Amino acid sequence: SLFKRQSKLVGLLLPDITNPFFPELARGVEDELQKQDFRLLFGNSDENPEKEQAYIETFLQNQVVGIISATQTSGMFNQEQPAVPTVFLDRTHEGRYTVYADGREGGKIAARELVRRGSRNITVLKGPGHISPVQDRFLGAVEVLAASSVDFQVIQMASLTYEEAEERAKELFRQYPATDGILASNDMTAAAVLHEALRIGKAIPEEVQIIGFDDIPMSRLLFPSLSTIKQPVYEMGKQAAQLLLKLIKKEEVAEQIIQLPVSFVERNTTRKVK
Ligand code: RIB
Repeated sequence: SLFKRQSKLVGLLLPDITNPFFPELARGVEDELQKQDFRLLFGNSDENPEKEQAYIETFLQNQVVGIISATQTSGMFNQEQPAVPTVFLDRTHEGRYTVYADGREGGKIAARELVRRGSRNITVLKGPGHISPVQDRFLGAVEVLAASSVDFQVIQMASLTYEEAEERAKELFRQYPATDGILASNDMTAAAVLHEALRIGKAIPEEVQIIGFDDIPMSRLLFPSLSTIKQPVYEMGKQAAQLLLKLIKKEEVAEQIIQLPVSFVERNTTRKVK
């Protein structure tokens, strides 16, 4: 026939699959694509624009019919319209199809919960500012803290790797020994902070309360189990895949940006209140 057979391949670009947030996100994408017989190619960008670019080129050489990207470097996505339908997932790009969770609200909820449960000297571990979900949750938290009567300070992280989180956690307790509440950029960071707090003999949650962000499966398994802000991670992946499939099939889509809600999950790194 004159019709060119289209591939059923989709490229998925993630920042770093060693953060358990991303496998769950990928699983949501894959399960949904599978239902319509689409398959995935995948790569880690490591927040590196050259790696991102190289993957996009490889995806296109392999005739992907769409791309889902959870990355946000200064790479080609920011300059040009992608050559195939593209959906951004977790991270926002001005004017592009996006599925993400309400990080701003999440940051507010986390700050309110710490204050409500009695923390009076709060340290915010701030992730890299170019990562939009991380920046959103930071802005939300600071908005609430600045309007409250508690003391707070911010520690800036250059990356969200576990290694850096461990370093910053050590620094945190050296620099701010009176801190009694910590808002971490994500659950991986929170896990490193919890580990360090216990190592130096802090009672959790009596002396220090900690709230993470994401609700990765690991957060239930920590001891004490981690209170956190839950993102609907699997659902985010699923909805990104659904949106991409509509774009590939040139079906009408109702909204360019889909924002999903977040919620507080109370576990044992925060104190109980009535
Ligand atoms: O990319 C790092 C973080 O952004 C993840 O842990 C998750 O919080 C995401 O929104």
